[in-house]
Order: sequence, then structure tokens, then C-alpha cells
Amino acid sequence: MKSEIKKICCIGAGYVGGPTMAVFAYNCPHIQINVVDINEDRIKSWNNPDLSLLPIYEPGLAAIIKKCRGKNLHFSTDIKKHIQNSDMIFISVNTPTKTKGIGKGKALDLKWIEKSARQISNYAKNNTIVVEKSTLPVRTADTIKKILESVNTKEQNPKIKRKNFTVLSNPEFLAEGSAVDNLQNPDRVLIGGDDDSSIEALKGIYLNWIKNEKILTTNLWSSELSKLTANAFLAQRISSINSISALCEATGADIKEVALAVGMDSRIGNNFISAGPGFGGSCFKKDILNLIYLCDYYGLDKVSKYWQQVIEINNWQRERITNIVVNKLFGTISDKKIAILGFAFKANTNDTRESPAILICKDLIEEGGNLRIYDPKVNSKQIEKDLSCIQNQNNLDKEIGNWKFVNSIEKASEDADGIIILTEWDEFKNINWSKISQKMRKPSWLFDTRLVSNTNEAKLFGIDVWSLGN
Ligand code: NAD
Ligand code: UGA
Repeated sequence: MKSEIKKICCIGAGYVGGPTMAVFAYNCPHIQINVVDINEDRIKSWNNPDLSLLPIYEPGLAAIIKKCRGKNLHFSTDIKKHIQNSDMIFISVNTPTKTKGIGKGKALDLKWIEKSARQISNYAKNNTIVVEKSTLPVRTADTIKKILESVNTKEQNPKIKRKNFTVLSNPEFLAEGSAVDNLQNPDRVLIGGDDDSSIEALKGIYLNWIKNEKILTTNLWSSELSKLTANAFLAQRISSINSISALCEATGADIKEVALAVGMDSRIGNNFISAGPGFGGSCFKKDILNLIYLCDYYGLDKVSKYWQQVIEINNWQRERITNIVVNKLFGTISDKKIAILGFAFKANTNDTRESPAILICKDLIEEGGNLRIYDPKVNSKQIEKDLSCIQNQNNLDKEIGNWKFVNSIEKASEDADGIIILTEWDEFKNINWSKISQKMRKPSWLFDTRLVSNTNEAKLFGIDVWSLGN
């Protein structure tokens, strides 16, 4: 396979494809990069001259797009053309959990991967390196190879040259909200493969900005499994600390103090042990479910049950928070106004996929609460989609609550009986409790599930406070 890459195509212009290729383009001005997608609206947004309207919000991303777009970074729906013209093709499409059929609720749905592989098989010219960027079950590279090779086995015009493909696994470890920084300074880059020159070609791209010692090469299956394992380990830490947050509440220990003490052990480390309303995001749950599916498939029942528990604690944490809110507000929230601060699954992103806010809000609406939702980056349309119920201020049925999108903390707090902080946005760290307490109905409550607010000040102004793990 060729070692010098001049043209790259990335299939999938989502949270991974967009930022990853932007950082590639920024560091490799000598490579032409085309990011393609079937979603026309998404491509239009990537091409929007107004950089505040890019489809994805990530700190630092707009500046890179401004520098590279139209020079060596392009966004297009012309999938065929860009597959045809490329030396290396990244597959960065979505791999959600299957919602029906065999493996429903656990296995990853690979239909978008298969479709991408078929597109490459049909359109690619000779000698193409195909890179798995999406997170995939172990041994998916085998399937991709078979689909790619199928073009050579069809009865075809003997004048058409045989196409050569190699498949590499190069999972992405970026976290949303810090994607640009993670891509610029990754802890490691992982490349799995069995063709040395293809591995060298991909390595050569990363070496433009990443040190050799940070680039790890493994066999395909280790690479695919490492990605699932890394996410499972990270999620497991969150479920571990969240389980202890409940014990803190029962015993009088303080979860922040416990996390500090535990995290100072260098073997444990202080990252990823912040208690909260449970992990959200598009990947942790789906990747652990996939791990569980793989364990079941290989008959590893005990291992499967072990990882299942990480998800169960995560669900329980969310439900526990809803119950606490209702109980503190005298056992009923029917017709009560509740301010929801934060809807994104974490700060510094507009992504709401699997956000704990979704189920907490749905449950509170079902309990009859009138929610006033504010998030600095998530818009009303997205919230409507997630809550799948129409914003209705004139809802006369007081048994079923409703929700309304508002554009400030102040508006959310008007006449509210409770404020629930669900995302750790900086803005929520410095709330003016003197001002906000006057807007709320008495007795008023603050529920801080992210441990970010100045609870002493809130108490000073007459607000009752419940903070997680306290
Ligand atoms: P996404 O849904 O944001 O983007 C995927 C894009 O692929 C969509 O825009 C979709 O229209 C497009 N697509 C699907 N099939 C296509 C096809 N045949 N041709 C062209 N375009 C097609 O998903 P994402 O968050 O970017 O995740 C992509 C993969 O990366 C997943 O496997 C995910 O597990 C993994 N991953 C995600 C993150 C993250 O932070 N979101 C981090 C690491 C890894
Ligand atoms: C996660 C991983 O961190 C990435 O390495 C991985 O590439 C990515 O999944 C993926 O495969 O999609 P992401 O989901 O974007 O990244 O964000 P995280 O920072 O991991 O946060 C996930 C969830 O855990 C958020 O809801 C966050 O609030 C929560 N969390 C995180 C905690 O509750 N406590 C913590 O200490 C850390």
C-alpha cells in the first residue's frame, strides 16, 4: 500500500468526523481532506459562513475551521467523488445500539458501517487504505474487509483492475467539550492493523504533530477491544463514585472529601471521580452494552453481569435524584415550577445524547412539574426532540406537567420552588443567590447534582440546599 497520503476522505461529519478532520487539516496543510455526509443539513451547517452556526459546538473548533475550510478542508455531500479521489478513507459514522432484531438493546447497529464499506468498495480506485474511526465490536475489521473485497469477486469486466484494500483500526478517544485539545495533545494514538506500510502511512500523518512514543501499534482486534475497554473503565469509575455518593448521604461523609482523599493515591488518580447525576453522552452506555453483548456471545456470563452493574448504578443514580427532588418538595411537584439548569450531558458541548437531564426532566414532567429549562448552548428545538412532548404553557391538565425553554438563570428561577443543577456549566458556579433567592417561591430549594454552586451563599439567602453526596 502507498505510504504517502495526499488525499483523505472521511465518511461521517459528526462529533468525531468534523473535529478530527479539522485538526488533521490544521496540522497537515499538505493533505487535502474532504468530509462527506448523507445529511445535507449538517454539511450546509459545516459550510455556513457564520461560524457560530457550525453544527457542533467545541471550544477552539471555529478558529480551526476558519483557518482551514476552503483550503485543505472541505465538507461535501458528494460521497462518490471524494471516495474515488482518496488514498485513505476514514469511516466515522454512527454506531448506535440496535433497537430491533437480534441483539436488540445491546449489540451495535452496524448498518451505517456496512453501507459505508459498500460505498467504498464500489467507488474507490485502486489501493485504498480504509480506517475504522467509529467505535466497533471486536472483529468488525473482518466484516469490512469482506465487504470491500466483494467487488473483486463479482463477475466483472476483465479489463477492470482488481482493487486492493487494507483495513486499519484507529479508534478515537476524544471527549466532547475538550475535543480540539484532546486531538491536538492526545494521551495516545492507537493504530491496529496487519499491513506495515498502511500503518506507517497513517502513522506518518499523526507524526506531523504527535510524538512517535505516543503512537501505539497493535493487532486489529486489540485496537478494537481497547476502545470499548477504555470507555467501560471510565464509565465504571463514575458508577463507583456515584455509588459512594449515596453512602455519603446516608452516613454524613462528604463525597468531595472522599474523592479528594481517594484520588490522591497515585494508583487511583484524581481524574474521572466527580460524582454527578450519572454519565450521559452517546457512547458510554452503548459501548458497555456492546461489551456485554460480546461477553454473552462468547459465553462469559460473569463478565457480562459485572459490566451490567455499571449501567444499573447509572440508571439508579438518575432515578434517585428525581425521588429526592419530589420528596423534598413535600412529596408532590404537581403544578410547581422547577428551574432546570443545564440540559447538555456535560459542560462545553451542545450535545444532549443520553443526557441524564432527559430522563430526569421526563420523570419530573410526569410527576406534574412545570419545568423552566435553561442551557447556555442547547436550543429549544433540541430539548423538544429529546423530551418528545410539545412545549405548552397553557396546559390545563395540571396532572401532567409541562416545560418551557428560557434564556437565562433569572427567568428559570421566577416563582420556582426548586432549582436543579444538572450540567456543570461555569455560569452555574457563580450564581448571584441574593438576586435569585428573591425570585423564588418560599420555601425554596437548590438541588446541586454537580457540586458546582456556592451552596453556603445560597443557604445564607434562605434557600434550602441538597447537594449530591452530602
Ligand atoms: P454522529 O452521529 O455525530 O455522526 C455520524 C455521521 O455519519 C452522521 O452525520 C451521519 O449522517 C453520517 N453517516 C452515517 N452513515 C453515512 C453514510 N453511509 N455515508 C455518509 N455519512 C453517513 O456520530 P459521532 O458522535 O461522530 O460518532 C461516530 C463514531 O465515533 C461512533 O462509532 C462513536 O461511538 C465514535 N466516537 C464518538 C465520540 C464522541 O465523542 N461523540 C468519541 C469517540 C468515538
Ligand atoms: C467519553 C470518553 O471520555 C472519551 O475518551 C471517548 O472517546 C468518548 O466517550 C466516546 O467514545 O464517545 P464523552 O462522553 O464525550 O467522552 O465525555 P466524558 O467527559 O467522558 O463524560 C461522559 C459523561 O460522564 C458525562 O455525562 C459527564 O458529565 C460524566 N462524568 C465524567 C461524571 O459524571 N464524572 C466524571 O468524573 C467524569
